[in-house]
Amino acid sequence: MSEPIKIAVVGSGYVGLVAAVCFAEMGHEVICVDNDERKVVALQGGDTLIHENYLPELLDRYRNTRVRFMTDLAEATRESEAIFIAVGTPQSETGDADLSYVEAVACEIARSISSYKVIVEKSTVPVYTNEWVRRSMERNGVDRHLFDVVSNPEFLREGTAVADFLHPDRIVVGADSERAASVLSRIYAPLTSGQYYEKEAAISGCCTVAEPPPLLLTSTKSAEIIKHASNAFLALKISFINAVSNLCEAADANVEQVARGIGLDSRIGPKFLRPGIGYGGSCFPKDVAAFRSVAEQLGINFDLLAEVEKINGLQKKRFIAKVRSALWTLRGKRLGVLGLAFKGDTDDIRESPAIEIVKLLLAEGCSIAAFDPAAMKRTQEVLPQGNCLRYVADAYEAASDCDALLILTDWPEFARLDLERLYKTLRYPIVIDGRNLYDPQVMSENGFTYLSTGRPAANPVRDLSPVASAQS
Ligand code: UGA
Repeated sequence: MSEPIKIAVVGSGYVGLVAAVCFAEMGHEVICVDNDERKVVALQGGDTLIHENYLPELLDRYRNTRVRFMTDLAEATRESEAIFIAVGTPQSETGDADLSYVEAVACEIARSISSYKVIVEKSTVPVYTNEWVRRSMERNGVDRHLFDVVSNPEFLREGTAVADFLHPDRIVVGADSERAASVLSRIYAPLTSGQYYEKEAAISGCCTVAEPPPLLLTSTKSAEIIKHASNAFLALKISFINAVSNLCEAADANVEQVARGIGLDSRIGPKFLRPGIGYGGSCFPKDVAAFRSVAEQLGINFDLLAEVEKINGLQKKRFIAKVRSALWTLRGKRLGVLGLAFKGDTDDIRESPAIEIVKLLLAEGCSIAAFDPAAMKRTQEVLPQGNCLRYVADAYEAASDCDALLILTDWPEFARLDLERLYKTLRYPIVIDGRNLYDPQVMSENGFTYLSTGRPAANPVRDLSPVASAQS
């Protein structure tokens, strides 16, 4: 393995924690700093705090050895050659990214620097942030020769974050000095040289010794823009296919066939063309708004992004309209809801379109039985159980005696339901699928009225007796 490097990672959220354990997995010595004492204690004790594949194993392997957790940023700064800032950059009221946490970290680092350090922006930040970090270091009396600021955006997805980190499509390093660029190249050498993939216990993924990931060296400003532009483009792709799916519904065409037809064009590609109830999560909504705001501040018209957001918002309302079209009136209707997380394989409910839909349905007077394999605890903190909302133990209990079952998150287990059991469990065999998890023909053969996104509605092919009498 290449030579280990001493690294500090500031912030132990999704990006920070995953980066910390993955750097350790790559052979480096890592200090992960968080100012939340309780989090630090939990991580030291082996609690991952988030639901993420491979994280428990890696944390077990390296905690308190190759990854140390602490609250003391001064000590971490003194001991490290590179300091990765991975704190939150939440959306402010105006849509901009709120960079106050990044600034606070920069000021604290400035107070403890006595030898050369590379300060790395890992959080998603707007262009010019590296200059502000540099200015803030200088204002706090740090000699310009004692540090460089580098942008090294992260492209990991929740749920597959560890594998994404170790098997990236590309590693982007925005550096305006050769010295800083060479530190980052050494840090990523285990991946870019392919060495990591030879390890017996390496986490598997698409990179190999023969095909290691490329490292793209750019200016700091270009790297900052690459991150925002990537997320905005992916969000745009989703809104585009959602708009096309609405068109398919109106024309009685099938969006799956259309997406396949356009995705086979290698210039377009098949990924991120799944229609549904709109994108959510802690990144796309915030980053599209922040990128739009950056453009506005730089005097560039980027109204295209406003349209992307508009289509995304409307997608949830269209879903409610679809529920209404199947059930006529909504007040007093009993609905089973599958999925609360913003996507499958995560317990994250930030900006979850599923939660927004649940709120809209509750406001319409529906009563809901909801199930999610991982996100119910978090959802209960924002939407407590009450007369009209119950959290249940599995998909069939959610469906039990309901007027319709709604699928709102693409958990793999929701795509494998026992249809015969489901048919018998529901009061009326109606499934409204916001994630297109089923084949409409199979649903109609199993006796369901099945409404999905951008595909013709399916009605029962066989005249099965009504569920209510079938049960009696
Ligand atoms: C996203 C990006 O995919 C990552 O590359 C990026 O690093 C990350 O944001 C970030 O900036 O930190 P993530 O938010 O974890 O990752 O989730 P995605 O898998 O991208 O999904 C985002 C949303 O889009 C979800 O609500 C998902 O259901 C939706 N989506 C995704 C669709 O509706 N259709 C698709 O075809 C794909």
